[in-house]
Amino acid sequence: MDQSGSFINGHWLRKSKIAHVSEKTFYATTPIFYVNDAPHIGHAYTEVAADVLTRWHRQRGQDAYLLTGTDEHGEKVLRTAIANQTDAQDWTDNLVNGSWLPLLETIDINNQDFIRTTEPRHKKAVQKFLQKLYDDGFIYQGSYQGNYCVGCEEYKADADLVAGEAEYAGQQVCAIHSKPVETLNETNYFFKLSEFQRPLLELYKAQPEFVQPDSAKNEVISFVSRGLDDLSISRSKEKFDWGVDIPWDESHVTYVWFDALLNYVTALGYGEDEKLLNKYWPADVQVVGKDILRFHAVIWPAMLMAAGLKPPKQVFGHGWLLVGGEKMSKSKLTGIAPEQITDVFGSDAFRYFFMRAISFGSDGSFSWEDLSARYQAELANGFGNLGSRVVSMVDKYFDSNLPAPAEYQEPDKQLIAIAQAAALNADRAMDRGAIHEAISSIWTLVDELNNYITVQQPWKVAKDESQKERLGTILYCSAEGLRILSILLVPITPKACKKLFASIWPDKDISEQTIADAAQWGGLPVGTKFESLESLFPRIEQE
Ligand code: ME8
Ligand code: MG
Repeated sequence: MDQSGSFINGHWLRKSKIAHVSEKTFYATTPIFYVNDAPHIGHAYTEVAADVLTRWHRQRGQDAYLLTGTDEHGEKVLRTAIANQTDAQDWTDNLVNGSWLPLLETIDINNQDFIRTTEPRHKKAVQKFLQKLYDDGFIYQGSYQGNYCVGCEEYKADADLVAGEAEYAGQQVCAIHSKPVETLNETNYFFKLSEFQRPLLELYKAQPEFVQPDSAKNEVISFVSRGLDDLSISRSKEKFDWGVDIPWDESHVTYVWFDALLNYVTALGYGEDEKLLNKYWPADVQVVGKDILRFHAVIWPAMLMAAGLKPPKQVFGHGWLLVGGEKMSKSKLTGIAPEQITDVFGSDAFRYFFMRAISFGSDGSFSWEDLSARYQAELANGFGNLGSRVVSMVDKYFDSNLPAPAEYQEPDKQLIAIAQAAALNADRAMDRGAIHEAISSIWTLVDELNNYITVQQPWKVAKDESQKERLGTILYCSAEGLRILSILLVPITPKACKKLFASIWPDKDISEQTIADAAQWGGLPVGTKFESLESLFPRIEQE
């Protein structure tokens, strides 16, 4: 077949539409999570989204790098450790090793690094960064008087507070945590954030995709347009000392957010060995929940600009997972542990459900009913059975040897056109961060392939020996459809797709097949010996 494209269904489909990837590398990050408690499905959701985007780019042939980790300093973590009668370092070690690292296995995250803010590599680099900003005149000593919410680890303006209820009636409380804030009156160090209003507004103009989705972007622009206050970036050790020492004044520790945001560059060796930093920075996408978008879209790029580093290409603020209409949270005890879901449905179903059922960027609800219905209809009946049927027909009618296609007829050409459109549209949607749209594009091929088999009735064609060639064409097309599906879906449901691919092309590794290869019809070699395939999405016994 012509390498640069193919003439299908009256359309010349150029291979280069997808094959052309201008960027060699791709760097994605998740927030680093507070270790005041074990992870719930909200954290897992962010991890999966960043992992799916990274795996997609890797499948395109890019050198893709995913960073995640834990945010271990600050008063919130320290207080939790004290409340549990442990030392802060022991507390974080236990929680990281017992819960946060295992989460990555539970939901099948392929991260290249995991950074903890208590690691020496991070602390040293934070101090280098601070010293540089101090030497360059971006940090000065001042005094802070105002509110602080330990739950948010954030300084709060009076306007951010609301009237308390029940036990806090008559007091002003944090709008997010519904608890009273602390009043601080401290001498500490300030970062000249106010000087970055203009550069930030210019950044949002020059990089229109810097903040996504658009609704979030407008909010950020209007916030910055109202003017910025300088930011207190240290706390006096008289109050607490669980943080990174300010290098020029050891009576202060670094404000936890200033410390935490830097993880995205300290993990790449900022200030030490900058090979990785030069290779991957600026990040292509920094995935965060919308609660912390402002830190990432305002403070973070200002910090980077002050240090002479480029801002990331994009900060994507996704929506809330809601349970019973409320944002799921650790502090409100509405959290569901990811293993509650994966123990029953597996990691592929977890990943698929959250990426498919919720528009990435919007809020979405989780319910066991919806998960279970989609598992059955879409994964088990839609995709899993399709794989089993095709593999078993190739076994039954061709002794597991993939037959050659004869001349393509109209229905075959239609299938081919849908397969190519699915790959192209999914790729474009992923570029926009529209993960749910990418999956629905791919699903047009799942549906079409099921429909194709129903209409072509290979089991009937098989009864007529004179139609052996036609049977070969139908099964070749079906199997080729499976190859394409497994490549396009492997970033989302890696376990099932690896099994499926290993069954239809045993001596090829799926990682060698790019998204461009998925868009190119005819990749599966005729005569390939199929191997048996266990059920991809087994029936779940309902309690
Ligand atoms: O904010 N729905 O950490 P954190 C969707 N350490 N996502 C949710 C969610 C929900 N109900 N609940 C939590 C911090 N998340 C800082 C970040 S980064 C330099 C420092 C996810 O443990 C979502 O990604 O409070 C949100 O932004 C993050 O967890 C907050 O995690
Ligand atoms: Mg939080």
